[in-house]
Amino acid sequence: MADKDGFKVAKDYQIEVPFANNSKSFYVKGANNLDWGMKKHLANIFDAKSGNTVMFAFDHGYFMGSVAGLERMDLLIPILAPHIDVMMCTRGALRTCVPPIGNKAVVLRVSSGSSMLNDDLSHEIVAVNIEDAIRCNADCMAVQAFIGADGQLESIRNLSNVINEGLRYSIPTMGVVAVGKDMERTDRYFKLATRTLAEIGVNIVKTYYCENFEEVVAACPVPIVVAGGQKLPEDEALTMAYRAISAGAHGLDMGRNIFQSKQPVSMAESIRLIVHHKATDKEAYEFYQDSIHK
Ligand code: R5P
Repeated sequence: MADKDGFKVAKDYQIEVPFANNSKSFYVKGANNLDWGMKKHLANIFDAKSGNTVMFAFDHGYFMGSVAGLERMDLLIPILAPHIDVMMCTRGALRTCVPPIGNKAVVLRVSSGSSMLNDDLSHEIVAVNIEDAIRCNADCMAVQAFIGADGQLESIRNLSNVINEGLRYSIPTMGVVAVGKDMERTDRYFKLATRTLAEIGVNIVKTYYCENFEEVVAACPVPIVVAGGQKLPEDEALTMAYRAISAGAHGLDMGRNIFQSKQPVSMAESIRLIVHHKATDKEAYEFYQDSIHK
């Protein structure tokens, strides 16, 4: 309890100054009508100045096992952490390899259910319940969505359940658009999938870059973050990142194009330049080359 000695009577009420409604317009797309807790989690993910985010995806192990570049998450994560905004991972990776210090946001993968050994990856369950997401201090829960695939109904059930639980405790949900043998990689497909997820109620959509991406972004009422996809040469990955941000994406959620790069830290920093500092792909690649030759 505060010490009562020296107590000063409150008198500076500034009655001529109207109440400062600081949350009148919130900068995250589609989040204006959410409550304080939701907004705070989204503000932990999206930078207040640029409005964007650099997510580092290293949730691959949940269905791929150990992949090249992620063999030793315990060694990689502490090195990369200062250069990214958000850790997107499983609870197993979080509890074992992510130091519980610092100010990085957490997007926790909560759906699971298939592995590389299955031909059809589209059948998943919700594997992490809301209580454990809260224990992990998750800022967002990520659910894979297989729109148009055999497991579509399960995906939509999983998403709806996670969104409903998230709304009870003000934790946002991210819908992750899956691609696979049943899904085309066209703007027609991504427009359908991203809009479907937003209307089901997710707060963030993760999807892939495609032609006419401006239209995909325009039709989606929540922020889109773009997946990196398979490893590309660094200049091509940076061009994809630049095109995505120029088309209105609010960030990258990149995995292999960072952790399989010869210089993951330089690659993360180059992505940051595009995402937060309006750099072009050419400028970002020059930075990448300069930093690897230092
Ligand atoms: C998407 O389906 C999962 O979240 C992946 O594990 C992750 O997005 C892959 O990231 P990247 O394609 O950039 O390696």
